[in-house]
Amino acid sequence: MSEIIEVSSDWLALREQEDARARSRRLARDAAGRLGSGPIVIHDLGSGTGSMMRWLAPLLPGPQTWVLHDWNADLVERAAESAVPVDQEGRAVTVRTRTGQLARLGSDDLEDASLVTASALLDVLTAEEVRAVVQACVDAGCPALFSLSVTGEVRLDPRDSRDDLIQAAFNEHQRRRVGERRLLGPSGGAFTHRLFLEAGWNVRAAATSWRLGDHDPRLLEQWFDGWLGAALEQRADLRGEGAGYRASRSSQLQHGSLSAVVVHTDLLAWPR
Ligand SMILES: C[S@@+](CC[C@H](N)C(=O)[O-])C[C@H]1O[C@@H](n2cnc3c(N)ncnc32)[C@H](O)[C@@H]1O
Repeated sequence: MSEIIEVSSDWLALREQEDARARSRRLARDAAGRLGSGPIVIHDLGSGTGSMMRWLAPLLPGPQTWVLHDWNADLVERAAESAVPVDQEGRAVTVRTRTGQLARLGSDDLEDASLVTASALLDVLTAEEVRAVVQACVDAGCPALFSLSVTGEVRLDPRDSRDDLIQAAFNEHQRRRVGERRLLGPSGGAFTHRLFLEAGWNVRAAATSWRLGDHDPRLLEQWFDGWLGAALEQRADLRGEGAGYRASRSSQLQHGSLSAVVVHTDLLAWPR
């Protein structure tokens, strides 16, 4: 098994509301329109604690069965134990879980899928893992909705001359090697888009952004700490400059005068 990169359930809970606001409802409606009638099975890849299911289930017809895939058994267990969402008609969905590395996802795993979904996943996968995911979707022949892949673009307000340097270091960190794995980072969404086109599928994309500000100071602060921390882990030579940058941004955070747009992209792919 590859070395698991732990994602904390507290972080997933903190971001859930902003994720829900940011994801493209237009693409979700489009996906819903491509489902056949009768019971549907949705496979959510890299499900974490089930945030995508809680957002999407009420937007889709039912009856629904959700199959949550993640390599972190603790997270999927939490998802299975949490309150069960309802479908468009108010019926509780059925939830199943599978623990495993997505690199090994095969066509058998998605055999019964009506829809495949993922959220905040593609940028933390490797090229080989994305190839396995896209191939499994193509074999399954059902629509795939992949929400919230970061593009690497961040716009802070007020601007600071050091923003671009920190952004570049952060994006380098997102593409780092972890054990044997080289993460795609901000190229994950575009790479997936290309693979579906090469497979002869239709792809529709939507720009989706987190809008962080004083309305949710804890999320803004934790996102900023993680962003700057990863950048400085990647570029130790920037630590001196980073300390001054952190002090200036901390003061803006305390005064409620900092905001950030973190650009993401959502993709819907379906066979021609
Ligand atoms: C950023 S989290 C997003 C979780 C969830 N989709 C959400 O939107 O809250 C990425 C998730 O993908 C899982 N993950 C990352 N790489 C994986 C892999 N190679 N195989 C299986 N799961 C993976 C992580 O454990 C984590 O739960």
